[in-house]
Amino acid sequence: MQNEFSILVEELNEQILYLKELGVENFNVDLPEADSSKFKVLSLKSDISQEKLARFVPSDVEMLEAIATKPTNASVEQNKPRTSILEASKLSSLPKRNSTISNLLNNPKEEQTRENTMPVKTSEEMPSLFGEIVQTLPESIETIEEIRLDIGNCTRCTLCESRIKIVHSDGNREANLMFVGEAPGANEDAEGRPFVGKAGQLLNKIIESIGLKREDVFIGNVNRCRPPQNRQPTPLEAATCKPFLLREISVVRPKVIVVLGNTATQNLLGTKVGITKLRGEFQDYFGVKVMPTFHPAYLLRDPSKKRETWEDMKKVRDFLNQA
Ligand code: URA
Ligand code: URA
Repeated sequence: MQNEFSILVEELNEQILYLKELGVENFNVDLPEADSSKFKVLSLKSDISQEKLARFVPSDVEMLEAIATKPTNASVEQNKPRTSILEASKLSSLPKRNSTISNLLNNPKEEQTRENTMPVKTSEEMPSLFGEIVQTLPESIETIEEIRLDIGNCTRCTLCESRIKIVHSDGNREANLMFVGEAPGANEDAEGRPFVGKAGQLLNKIIESIGLKREDVFIGNVNRCRPPQNRQPTPLEAATCKPFLLREISVVRPKVIVVLGNTATQNLLGTKVGITKLRGEFQDYFGVKVMPTFHPAYLLRDPSKKRETWEDMKKVRDFLNQA
């Protein structure tokens, strides 16, 4: 218990220092010491309950079910309009199988003939109905362009009000290795590309440390728009943007995802467990290996932690070499 508390305090301290490093202003928290009597946090409550969240945004499993909604092989071969998952990302209802706006617009007849067909192939363990556990990523037939088109000039959350550019995922679309960060900072916001600032330069070195180049990997963030003052994205903002990342992951199908820092890890994996505990051990995300490690911005602040990230990256390298 005492030990868990100390870990919690250590994680909280790291988190606070990290946020300060990122330039978060008006921090309403006293730095605690690993002493319960001094532990005082004024506002760490998320601004929206999970329940409320669920009413607005599709869960990962619902998204994957939507991705698995596929047209018949015949229509793919003939380059017919694809079943899209347009609706799934609009914070409204999920698309019904085989009846999406794009199909109706593009080819109403084709839609009718496929009315009663079930999706052709879902991944091995995809359930056919809601409520069961989806264990592997479905094969997506979307392209990254189609996902970007769907994102459009996004106004799904209020981060759109202060952003300059939407920062889309970037890199090799057939990558075995993907990196996921938290959200763009000022440099990324200005350029419209992920990890181009100081943290990005360190990320490039991390990539090179395992014998790869930046062009070899795919890089994205849970959130695509810069939060004001680099604050942490709220749970609703993260949940609103994440489905697009999930769709990209289903397109790229990397063998490993390295998730950078506490916020990205917790938002991607849907966990409250902190990075200090999770890093260094492969986690599973619908059949994809996920390695949580420290965020490069955090490593810039505390270079002594680079050793741990190096250990984590060696595990990633070894896994990729034998996979
Ligand atoms: N930090 C992130 O989490 N993502 C970026 O793209 C840049 C900095
Ligand atoms: N806190 C974070 O958010 N990320 C890290 O990498 C370390 C601490």
